[in-house]
Amino acid sequence: MSNGELYMGREQTLVKHFILQKYLERFAYIVGSHWEVLTYVDCFSGPWNVRSEKFEDSSFAIALKELRNARDALKKQSSRDVRLRCFFLEKNQAAHAKLKEFADGVTDAKIETRNATLEESIPEITDFVRRGGAKSFPFVFIDPTGWTGFEMETIAPLLHLSPGEVLINFMTGHIRRFLDSPQEETQESFRRLFGSGAFRAKVQGLGRLEREDAAVDEYTRNAKSVGGFNFGCNAIVLHPEMDRTHFNLIYLTRNLKGIEVFKNAEKKAMEVQETARAEAQQRKRVARKGQAELFGSKELHDSTHYESLRERYLAKARSLVLQALESKRRLLYDDAWILALSEPLSWESDLKQWIEEWKSEGHLEVVGMQPRQRVPHRGEDNYLNWKRA
Ligand SMILES: C[S@@+](CC[C@H](N)C(=O)[O-])C[C@H]1O[C@@H](n2cnc3c(N)ncnc32)[C@H](O)[C@@H]1O
Repeated sequence: MSNGELYMGREQTLVKHFILQKYLERFAYIVGSHWEVLTYVDCFSGPWNVRSEKFEDSSFAIALKELRNARDALKKQSSRDVRLRCFFLEKNQAAHAKLKEFADGVTDAKIETRNATLEESIPEITDFVRRGGAKSFPFVFIDPTGWTGFEMETIAPLLHLSPGEVLINFMTGHIRRFLDSPQEETQESFRRLFGSGAFRAKVQGLGRLEREDAAVDEYTRNAKSVGGFNFGCNAIVLHPEMDRTHFNLIYLTRNLKGIEVFKNAEKKAMEVQETARAEAQQRKRVARKGQAELFGSKELHDSTHYESLRERYLAKARSLVLQALESKRRLLYDDAWILALSEPLSWESDLKQWIEEWKSEGHLEVVGMQPRQRVPHRGEDNYLNWKRA
């Protein structure tokens, strides 16, 4: 089956799986070059709404494939023997039976599955990670269907895993609609999700997008602080047929290289997303009118929503860099890079463009570059000097 067939009608899952796959492709190779064991933990494994008999459209099979590819490439290129270990968790009994059948067929990686909820499986997961030994690097994927089952206090031991990285599917669209619910029970469930009640004041009185941003920022800040992560960023996954956010994939790491790899995956995923949304929206129009369209989905696609989001986050990211330049006057390129990439839909190519603009306006000078170097690099003591009076 093609990707189009596997994900038709659930293009948001295509984007989620694309980001997971692209991220793990590089992660497994880079981390496998330094660590002897790669440990992947899928806390909400499924299979869930899959169409492929081989589970090609499931997070656990996608992850295992990328880990295997990296292990095989490292063996071939540098004779390294990287061991793979996976923990697949699933609450639903029927889904778990399929998951177990898949896992039982795997002979080249250690796989454990468990039919239980995340809430009752934290000791098993941390024990599984610990048994990987001191040379194991864990990656934890938390991909729930709503906003319960992964309360901040529940997942704290997973966030604490160091070394370790975490990817969390934050169901923004769903969460935003209930943030103001007068029901005490719902408010309490959000307090547990965020790990504090401070989110309430932060989202109050805000419009739709501002409220979503505030919720994602607050959640990221709390999760970063609980886990002692240095960096966090997120990718926006849009509804295929409507101009609104479905969810944000929040990525937490202690290593800047991780941000570089995640942002590259995000950038590529946004192209895949707009192509898939164009097709989904054309399909919907054709079904409504009962008539085929003369032009292809790409030609007819209205990408105003995506473009406006990109403008929105670019303006935020640019202003973060500008504020730092104006207050510090001398900013390490690496620090400008962290600020620029902290917002979704903002990439290094954008930062380089702002630097060129500020240079040509006479406001900025880049110092510390080699004689033939044309653009600043990270890790090379390149500085941005702000010259405006
Ligand atoms: C969004 S689906 C996961 C999809 C999968 N990660 C993928 O991308 O292919 C969420 C899964 O988590 C399971 N689930 C729901 N609540 C859970 C809980 N508290 N603990 C563990 N699994 C749970 C559901 O049965 C469902 O299969």
